[in-house]
Amino acid sequence: MSRQVVARASEVQPGSCKIVSARGREIGLFNIGGEYFALSNRCPHKGAELCRGMIVGLAQSSTPGEYRLSRPGEFIRCPWHGWEFDIRTGRSWCDPARLGVRQYPVSVRPGRQLVEGPYVAESFPVRLEHNYVVVEA
Ligand code: FES
Repeated sequence: MSRQVVARASEVQPGSCKIVSARGREIGLFNIGGEYFALSNRCPHKGAELCRGMIVGLAQSSTPGEYRLSRPGEFIRCPWHGWEFDIRTGRSWCDPARLGVRQYPVSVRPGRQLVEGPYVAESFPVRLEHNYVVVEA
């Protein structure tokens, strides 16, 4: 796995998903309250484009006719059959031990840091002392 710039942070607003391509794979980038997550855009059930589904919260019920909503915007619902996956972990809510979506590490970095590249020549402090340039080596 190698690092690749896929979007500006501002292109993925909180509560949204942007689908990007990285090394031939379609990946959904999510922003949950300023935290970024990346999931494969392929549903493990039958292969639908998972990240084109609806972003929802968690609905739980302890009694018929009553339900409780929590964790708004932290789940993706597959557009084909409605399976839901935790965006933070990629795990299926119905069977988290067996079913999951491939998750990718995501980080937000300043553009300047990315342009610099991995190779850095050794540098030395330079000062001007009267008419002479002084290098500390
Ligand atoms: S293809 Fe995603 S739930 Fe069936």
